[in-house]
Amino acid sequence: MGVPLFDTRSPLEPLREELHAAALRVLDSGSYILGPEVAAFEEELAAYCGAAQAVGVANGTEALTIALRAMGVGPGDEVVVPSFTFYASAEAIPPTGATPVFCDIDPATYCVTPETVRAALTPRTKAVIAVHLFGNVAPVAEIEALGVPVLEDAAQAAGSRSAAGRPGALGTAATFSFFPSKNLGCFGDGGAVTTSDAALAERVRTLRFHGSHDKVTYEQVGYNSRLDELQAALLRVLLPHLDGWAGGRRAAGAHYEQAGLGELATLPVPVPGAEPAWHLYVIGHPDAARLEAALAAAGIGHKPYYRTPVHRQPAMRPWGANVELPATEHAAATHLAIPMSPVLTRAQVEEVVGVVRGAS
Ligand SMILES: Cc1ncc(COP(=O)(O)O)c(C=O)c1O
Repeated sequence: MGVPLFDTRSPLEPLREELHAAALRVLDSGSYILGPEVAAFEEELAAYCGAAQAVGVANGTEALTIALRAMGVGPGDEVVVPSFTFYASAEAIPPTGATPVFCDIDPATYCVTPETVRAALTPRTKAVIAVHLFGNVAPVAEIEALGVPVLEDAAQAAGSRSAAGRPGALGTAATFSFFPSKNLGCFGDGGAVTTSDAALAERVRTLRFHGSHDKVTYEQVGYNSRLDELQAALLRVLLPHLDGWAGGRRAAGAHYEQAGLGELATLPVPVPGAEPAWHLYVIGHPDAARLEAALAAAGIGHKPYYRTPVHRQPAMRPWGANVELPATEHAAATHLAIPMSPVLTRAQVEEVVGVVRGAS
């Protein structure tokens, strides 16, 4: 039958009319940039996360760069970042003038730990980017206990929870991406920065509008990086459903476990205290290529997202050339994302596991 890697359409079907009405409301309003929809979505997102403020920006990559600059990161500074992540987590650092310093991950959770971060700290470290990879929740408080501010990269973790609260409210600041396939995805590009530091939020607002807070005086070289009204209005329709979809993702993960996938491959492990809303369901297998071939033959979606870790990407050569990260290399070679969505059924899970069993 085949199973898609993810399904962004089905969860939206029941919301068609509401989405159409929200889009028309904006089209008819005459207000398209930084109007009432963005302001309302910012309040709703902040409340959802448990942060004091949210600031809408153009995408999750600029959210990172802008948040780092608002945290005071600049030329001469170092920012610790995992290499096993989407490229943008590290790509966002050089535009601030700072240097990426790559750290390793915990091979079970795919997230950074206080130990892997500590190994990368120097007197020049200004911040750590803790990526909540695949929807897991990195141990932010334990990393901040090392005495360094943490920027959460929560692009993949909307809807996840941890004992300490939700991604978005765990570090000094956090960033989100609303890329369409994300747990909270819009209908184009979008992003946000959340924080409970009012001064930091104000610096983000200034940076997203050309480095000006009054549109008259330009104090910094900033960005033209705004979430637009249309996307904000659509996201306001989706946000109340995020927890329900997160539950569907957790249920799908539980189905994989119940179907015996853990006997055939290494399953993703939640960080202690975390309840991940799995954005990607990533398993480990020593012969990932064999698994890929079997899944492809059965029409089952799969993707090795980060076969070449970020520190070995050509553009990162200046900062990644002599870095050795054994857990990252192992994860890069063995990981494979298999189907995950809020509407993945038990029957679909069993079909996937059957194919993995046949290839094992
Ligand atoms: C971990 C991570 N960080 C940053 C980003 C960048 O977000 P965007 O594509 O909205 O720029 C993404 C997703 O694309 C991501 O998965």
